[in-house]
Amino acid sequence: MRVLGIDTSCDETSVALVEDRVILAEAVYGQNALHRPFGGVVPEIAARAHAERMVPVLDEVLTAGGGAPDAVAVTNGPGLIGPLLVGLSAAKAFAFARGLPLVGVNHLQAHVAAAYLLDPAPAPPILALIASGGHTLLFEVPEPGTYQRLGQTIDDAAGECFDKVAALLGLSYPGGPAIEEAAKDGDAFSFALPRPLKNHANDDFSFSGLKTSVLYKLKGQDKRRADPDTATIKVADMAASAQEAIADVLTFKAVRAARRRGIKQLVLGGGVAANTRLRELAVERAAAAGITVFVPPRSLCTDNAAMIAIRGAELLAAGARDDLYLDAYVGGTP
Ligand code: KG4
Ligand code: ZN
Repeated sequence: MRVLGIDTSCDETSVALVEDRVILAEAVYGQNALHRPFGGVVPEIAARAHAERMVPVLDEVLTAGGGAPDAVAVTNGPGLIGPLLVGLSAAKAFAFARGLPLVGVNHLQAHVAAAYLLDPAPAPPILALIASGGHTLLFEVPEPGTYQRLGQTIDDAAGECFDKVAALLGLSYPGGPAIEEAAKDGDAFSFALPRPLKNHANDDFSFSGLKTSVLYKLKGQDKRRADPDTATIKVADMAASAQEAIADVLTFKAVRAARRRGIKQLVLGGGVAANTRLRELAVERAAAAGITVFVPPRSLCTDNAAMIAIRGAELLAAGARDDLYLDAYVGGTP
């Protein structure tokens, strides 16, 4: 079955045509340049850009020669409401016009399913760490099609922490790649930054305290000081220390969760999974526990529609169908 996937949950207008876990065609229009001046995604700007780009991106995929879609899968949550509604409306219109089945897909479950596009691909039972600018959570996939959330961040997402620390250091947006680049010349243990919730028994995360700790290390105790002190503090050392703290907590808790459940396959996903230090530490710690790590290429870690089509195909095969009343939702799972 050829499934047309559509994702507009955040700041990427993305469409893909996928059949039997093979991407036949895909197109992504990223919006980083539009949001960079604001240091983060502006929902209204994102929604407008999706509305402008949706038809050209859809056209590009449909004319790429992959064949006609048999079904449509679309992200209906979680995400930003305006952006979600653009993709959802396009998916409904297309499915209605062509008389195709339509299915709504949970964006976070789809990040896990992105690993099914790998060769070799993991097979359940799987433990997945999904870390992006908006989400950070652990999933257990005990069997195909079942996604159990084990824990999640109780405040900031890991990517958000990268972005905010980067902003404090005067680095560009998005912060993750900028921190990674700056960290290359830094000493990861030059600043003793906290590892929030690392040794708590649960599978939750917390990153807002880490960000605040960076702020106070930069400003000292002088609350009157307006700007972070990046003149005397080496940006590379702080970038490396923050990256190490985030990678440490994420990989420690992901591997511990897999070990506790006797799961031997760990999947990384979300934009933060592009981080080299995170991958390195995950592989090192997983190997010590006899666990294999699966990391999709960067284009499948960040938001993409191929993963939506893959999760959609799974749902469609299980008989799921949505109608034109399918709604978008902002947070959690419906
Ligand atoms: O999955 P994604 O593209 O979009 C969503 O947030 O849904 O993730 C974007 C996030 C941003 O916070 C960005 O700073 C982070 O992923 N990111 C990275 C890296 N590349 C992107 N974080 C750390 N290291 C990277 N190399
Ligand atoms: Zn995402």
